[in-house]
Amino acid sequence: MPATAGEGRRPWWRTAVVYEVYLRSFADSDGNGLGDVNGLRGRLAHLVDLGVDAVWITPWYPSPMADGGYDVSDYRDIDPRVGTLADVDALLAEAHAAGLRVVIDLVANHTSAEHPWFAAAVAGGPGAPERARYFFRDGRAGGAEPPNDWISAFGGRAWTRVTEPDGRPGQWYLHLFAPEQPDLDWDDVTVQEEFDDILRFWLDRGVDGIRVDAAPAMAKLPGLPDAGHRPGALFESSAWVDNPHWDVDEVHEIFRRWRRIGDTYDGDRLFVSEAVVNGPERLSRYVRPDELHTTFNFDYLKAPWDAGSIRAVIEGTLAALAPVGAPATWVLSSHDETRHVTRFGRVSSGAATMGFDASAPADLELGLRRARAAALLTLALPGGAYLYQGEELGLPEVEDLPEEVLQDPTWERSGRTARGRDGCRVPLPWSGDRPPFGFSADGVQPWLPQPESWRGLTVAAQREDPSSTLSLYRDALRLRRSLHGLADDAPLTWHELGPDIVAFDRGPAFRCVVNMSARPLPLAGLGRPVLRSGDDGDALPPDTAAWLVTGYS
Ligand code: NOJ
Repeated sequence: MPATAGEGRRPWWRTAVVYEVYLRSFADSDGNGLGDVNGLRGRLAHLVDLGVDAVWITPWYPSPMADGGYDVSDYRDIDPRVGTLADVDALLAEAHAAGLRVVIDLVANHTSAEHPWFAAAVAGGPGAPERARYFFRDGRAGGAEPPNDWISAFGGRAWTRVTEPDGRPGQWYLHLFAPEQPDLDWDDVTVQEEFDDILRFWLDRGVDGIRVDAAPAMAKLPGLPDAGHRPGALFESSAWVDNPHWDVDEVHEIFRRWRRIGDTYDGDRLFVSEAVVNGPERLSRYVRPDELHTTFNFDYLKAPWDAGSIRAVIEGTLAALAPVGAPATWVLSSHDETRHVTRFGRVSSGAATMGFDASAPADLELGLRRARAAALLTLALPGGAYLYQGEELGLPEVEDLPEEVLQDPTWERSGRTARGRDGCRVPLPWSGDRPPFGFSADGVQPWLPQPESWRGLTVAAQREDPSSTLSLYRDALRLRRSLHGLADDAPLTWHELGPDIVAFDRGPAFRCVVNMSARPLPLAGLGRPVLRSGDDGDALPPDTAAWLVTGYS
């Protein structure tokens, strides 16, 4: 796709606002209760109207759905429940014609246990060459105990024992996620070559970028030594130092290899990693000039609603990325995290790990006020941003899903103590005044039930209301393309207004002010407001934000 006017030679991904489509919850075109590719094609107008630059689509490959499609059994096809390759080709053509780029998800740390490779590895028995593509090891204590103390992100240990072809309990295999997601051994050359080919398959098809799932998991320390996890430890990778199964230095060789492939294509193809690691310096290693282009910023997502914490994250991120020349990305929510309307309504407003959440009560009015302010903050920061579907509608987490509908593996793996991530994955409400709210045809039951209370939050209900959250996002995205300082991605300079205020300038004419104090902040002398997340008046109420024009623009 050509660069848009004024963009010059700045690659699109340096400032892009990318909208995450959690495909099975976006729009259902065929009435099976699951969102699908044609549902997305039918709703591209919403994304164009919103004003985003690109979509990132969560895995659409054939999958037994043990982890919502992050368990892939065929990397070169589409799950029949969500579409066909022909639908994908049509989507790519239509998205490109509408000016939207398309980023897909690549799950390369693990396959599905139903992938033919894993089936062959189990069937081959100990010593079979097919086992070398995964981590099969003998257990300790005569085989009865797992080979080491590594843990699964979804709770419990990271090893499962197989029954060998002769019917006896045998070796163990590694899965840092669910048992249905065996980890691949990236030292194996056939693994490396297979994924080179898979990358080319999708890049040749015309996708604009690849989101790299679980990037820090893809290399393990040789010998697989114990990690020293305490019993009952959670998978808190942002706190780990020198961990043998996460953020191991050798992982970067994989990304250098992929970058060499990506660079043979035209059109500024993007690699963006999902990498929850220990601090911005470790994160910056994923986006060195010969590796991936950008990476999600989970420190920002996990920061509590507190001016000091948020400023520290912004500063730390920009300082760590500057030496490697990569742009920041800012992200508030995803299909893995409690929706930020709910999070910001809690006393402890930082994000928890994989839905292992204290479930403290949330004040949703407060949470929405802060979420709207956070949208203006996020979209005013230098670099790119990721929006999660439904945040433009101000959707809260659905915290009261009946236990019998929960599907996230976290629920069972935690011994039914952590509800997991289903509450942020409830299908989108598009229109109408009762479920399925236009997500599916009337009378169809979506794969997760939507709350009746979402009737006021549908796209249709918000579209014409200038005070709606949808209008706020639309206005912000439009101004982001036109205001000096934002459109030209000017650097950030802090503007001191007190300890509970986050305020900064971008260039000589743009200022963003977020009031995180308990008192209204007088706006006099700060500039001319062009967009506000809260009430109008001469002051900025607590938990609201404003964009101001400060000079001649
Ligand atoms: C990160 C994905 O975002 C998440 O949904 C998935 O469960 C894990 N990686 C494992 O693939």
